[in-house]
Amino acid sequence: MQCGTLAPQWVGQCPGCRSWGSLIEEVDRARGGGPRPGGGALPVPLAGVATDPTGSRATGIGELDRVLGGGLVPGSVTLLGGEPGIGKSTLLLQAAASAARNGPTLLVAAEESAEQVRRRAERLGALVNGCYIVATGDLPTALEAAGSLQPALLVVDSIQTIGDPSLTSQVGSTTQVRECAQALAHFAKVTGTATVLVGHVTKDGVLAGPRTLEHLVDTVLSFEGDRHHALRHLSATKHRYGTTGEIGLFEMGERGLVGLIDPSAVLLADRHRGVAGSIVAPVIEGRRPLLVEVQALVGETRSSSPRRVVQGIPPARLALLVAVLERSADISLRSFDVFVSTVGGIKVVEPAIDVAVALALASALSGVAIPENVVAFGEIGLGGEIRQTRSAGRRLSEAARLGFDRAVTPASTPSPGGTMEVVQAATIAEAIGVLGLGDARRRARARTVVQGGAAGQTEGLRGRPAAGNPIQPAGRPRIGLSVVRD
Ligand code: TYD
Ligand code: MG
Repeated sequence: MQCGTLAPQWVGQCPGCRSWGSLIEEVDRARGGGPRPGGGALPVPLAGVATDPTGSRATGIGELDRVLGGGLVPGSVTLLGGEPGIGKSTLLLQAAASAARNGPTLLVAAEESAEQVRRRAERLGALVNGCYIVATGDLPTALEAAGSLQPALLVVDSIQTIGDPSLTSQVGSTTQVRECAQALAHFAKVTGTATVLVGHVTKDGVLAGPRTLEHLVDTVLSFEGDRHHALRHLSATKHRYGTTGEIGLFEMGERGLVGLIDPSAVLLADRHRGVAGSIVAPVIEGRRPLLVEVQALVGETRSSSPRRVVQGIPPARLALLVAVLERSADISLRSFDVFVSTVGGIKVVEPAIDVAVALALASALSGVAIPENVVAFGEIGLGGEIRQTRSAGRRLSEAARLGFDRAVTPASTPSPGGTMEVVQAATIAEAIGVLGLGDARRRARARTVVQGGAAGQTEGLRGRPAAGNPIQPAGRPRIGLSVVRD
């Protein structure tokens, strides 16, 4: 036996109190038995390391657990942010009721009365044994209730409406929010209680209260959606115990939030077919493929600095794609306001959506609708080349499952077989050509002539197409001819 492996009974005297035979062995599970800096622990076989050292516990709300990477970790603090009315209280009431199967859960209702919450729970079918409530905005009262119940899950709704009377500042002030969060985080760590704090965000998406709150917690979840529509999405912007790539999708209905079983189908349900400026992109959100419709609208600008309005993709990505379209596909959007959005407000950060965005823009500009059976994906490089993306097969399968049978893809994407036709494109210019959106070039050029040209040229454009421009087929919008203004 090596001295580093001596059990405590062999150490003998406690170096602290000098008594003999009083040492008790403790296993540091949080560290997984691995070596400590300066310590003497032995290496352990990699295969023997527990796969879930955090011991997260599923709440039973599938889409919430998906975002959390399994569930809530005992002793962790999670901040759930979202605009008022988006459904934070509903989600956490459902989670508290569901998690009560594993141990008592406590709701600290600082905004609503116990009766209100009970009525809501009845309506949601969330009135269960083991789910407790204390309706108070007083921090010491809340902590006392939590201390006596010792819940497995503590929900504080909200951190902006709970206050510590020993502080002179107002409830909801920066100091109150920070101090209360700190006290609750301390309670969570000391007692091992999984704690969720609700935080309202302001209209511009900033978590009200100090930003330091985000540093104080282990996980920050963001609950978003359009209050007037049923779709809600949950994502993690910070997660100490897992990845932040997953999104949870819910529908808000009469009986609260219901996780979407087939999100792609729901996202495409309201699709308006045969309209220019629309195409579907198969994207990978976390580990799940999703079909997201990208819509673009272009309008002749009246301003010297045209607008670039974007929802669902990073604004910098749109700026890059607009620049690449001009340089590599001869489509200048300098004289056009540009609006791009993903339907359902789904945020897509992966560049695999690039090709769909560029094609939607070319379609909007040309007035030519992309056939409704087509999907497109691929990252666009600065030179206009279409690059490989991960998981091409899963994207194509998801598209095929929802009835799409043609996909514009990066050049070396293997054909998945079946009825899906893969149209490989090496560059964005090629993809635009394949879909017959070349008219976008003509419209962009015509507009540039109008902007830079004399009145006479403008008049010429009004009456007949400029020389070299093909006459448009009947039924297609007379693009390029409606550009005269001022
Ligand atoms: P709520 O959870 O109170 O939002 P938050 O806590 O984020 O402010 O949800 C409020 C909205 O949700 C409200 O407009 C009503 C709607 N709602 C439903 O549509 N169905 C339901 O079953 C519930 C409970 C709420
Ligand atoms: Mg609420």
